[in-house]
Amino acid sequence: MPDSTTAAPPSVRDNREKMLERAMSRHQYSGDALIEVLHAAQELYGYLSPPLLRMIARKLKLPPSRVLGVATFYHFFSLKPKGEHFFQVCTGTACYVAGAPALIEVLERRCCKSGATSPDGKVTVQAVRCIGSCGLAPAVIYDGRILARVTPDQLNQELDRIGVP
Ligand code: FES
Repeated sequence: MPDSTTAAPPSVRDNREKMLERAMSRHQYSGDALIEVLHAAQELYGYLSPPLLRMIARKLKLPPSRVLGVATFYHFFSLKPKGEHFFQVCTGTACYVAGAPALIEVLERRCCKSGATSPDGKVTVQAVRCIGSCGLAPAVIYDGRILARVTPDQLNQELDRIGVP
């Protein structure tokens, strides 16, 4: 699936960083909002990578050890993607209207429900809120890359390609 017809053009920026920035700004970059910010980050990225945690620590002016401590303490935060491949389907309004439910249906039928990892550990599926790339609807973030105007056929082809039964 990641070919020139579906991958976001290079000119299209990944807006997740901007959206996370907005979430931190809403809380005036207060360290007291760490849990809310970690939630927003996980919602956008699916998991909390070390660079992401470092960036949050820097922006909220908190010691990185504190941010890591909170992220590891709560079971609802993930520090790494669970499956070998990670599909995040945007279910914001534009993507929903443009066909996100059909994409979720394909993933649920062939892999697992949103928020889960397939039993063979191959695929993790997550429905996410608007990722700020509505012009690409329906958008899917596949292993960290934003794919534009994804169809159920393209998704099925990619699942075939990576060996999902
Ligand atoms: S609704 Fe999907 S990117 Fe905005």
